[in-house]
Amino acid sequence: MSNQQHQFPQGVPYLSLQQEYQALRSEWMQAIDGVGASGAFILGPNVQAFEEEAAAYIGAKHAVAVASGTDALVLSLRALNMGSGDEIITTPFTFFATAEAISLVGATPVFADVEVDSFNIDPASVEQCITDKTRAILPVHIFGNPADMTPLNAIAKNHNLHLIEDAAQAFGAEHNDQRAGSMGDCGCFSFYPTKVLGCYGDGGLITTSSDEVKARLIQLRNHGATQPFIHVEAGYNSRLDEIQAALLRIKLRNIEKSIAARRQIATWYDEALSQLDLVTPTSSANDRHAYNLYTIRHPRRDALREQLNACKIGNSQCYPEPLHLQEVYANLGYKAGDLPVAEGLCHETLSLPIFPGLSKHQVNYICEQVAKI
Ligand SMILES: Cc1ncc(COP(=O)(O)O)c(C=O)c1O
Repeated sequence: MSNQQHQFPQGVPYLSLQQEYQALRSEWMQAIDGVGASGAFILGPNVQAFEEEAAAYIGAKHAVAVASGTDALVLSLRALNMGSGDEIITTPFTFFATAEAISLVGATPVFADVEVDSFNIDPASVEQCITDKTRAILPVHIFGNPADMTPLNAIAKNHNLHLIEDAAQAFGAEHNDQRAGSMGDCGCFSFYPTKVLGCYGDGGLITTSSDEVKARLIQLRNHGATQPFIHVEAGYNSRLDEIQAALLRIKLRNIEKSIAARRQIATWYDEALSQLDLVTPTSSANDRHAYNLYTIRHPRRDALREQLNACKIGNSQCYPEPLHLQEVYANLGYKAGDLPVAEGLCHETLSLPIFPGLSKHQVNYICEQVAKI
């Protein structure tokens, strides 16, 4: 073990984008030069081409680029006319932006519990949350693992609800051969740099099969304008810029390689951790997990975290507190014990390093340190 430790005296970062940057640097520099020379910086030809290419990859009729994943959620909810008095069922085990978007449009988040294995929203719990104010279900494909969309779609149909996918962490993930973002009324993506498809700044995308929703999204992202200086509603300044779109086009061409690298790393972890007293991520046979994060459950999570920190191995506690118990939602009246599975996960989960370029030696070294606890 100590020999191994000497192999990585600097530890292992949680995430490194350097290798990827070096690989695409010259292509991106050329693209930036092209954007500069064109003089089109916002919503220009690269954005349009990226929207078409992303829609084709995802298997959606339309894609509308926006300024962030959070905006993708907010604009989708607005485009589907969600607002005050409406309840939207979502998961408490996600990044805050999912529920925040619901609050920002004036609607109320209603939290369903999650499945202990997939960490995703539990369809049985969703059914129990439905009231006559429910308007939509907002599942998250958490960590890149597709939510169980087949029963969720059935529930949505039976109760006449919208279904909005938060696919921020799940670009390229698949459920029954359908890609994340192609299974609901809207699919919302984030291109924050840590994501499976990340840009070098902020960015987001919405997919939809509806011509009407697409038109509304285009209006909303540009101040509610139907034509220059003519506004029919209050919208947002939520536009993707050309430099980010040019980068995303380059990265999209390599996305399958990048997802394959993540899946290979996950397999190395699965093998090396299989004999230990912990739970590795699960993935249904019909799904393709995109492994934005590799998140384990460990009965002594905090001790494990200390051990990894001592060896300078990057890790992240996703998520330390479920959303229904956060101060911001004190007014909703939830109490500890209401959603026991999500609450339990917050005490047990830890995300380990995963990014294209992470080597098998590094993974083995990390697993040796995990094994010490
Ligand atoms: C599940 C989820 N939803 C929404 C977002 C928001 O995306 P952005 O940071 O691009 O606004 C994130 C970002 O971390 C996320 O993980």
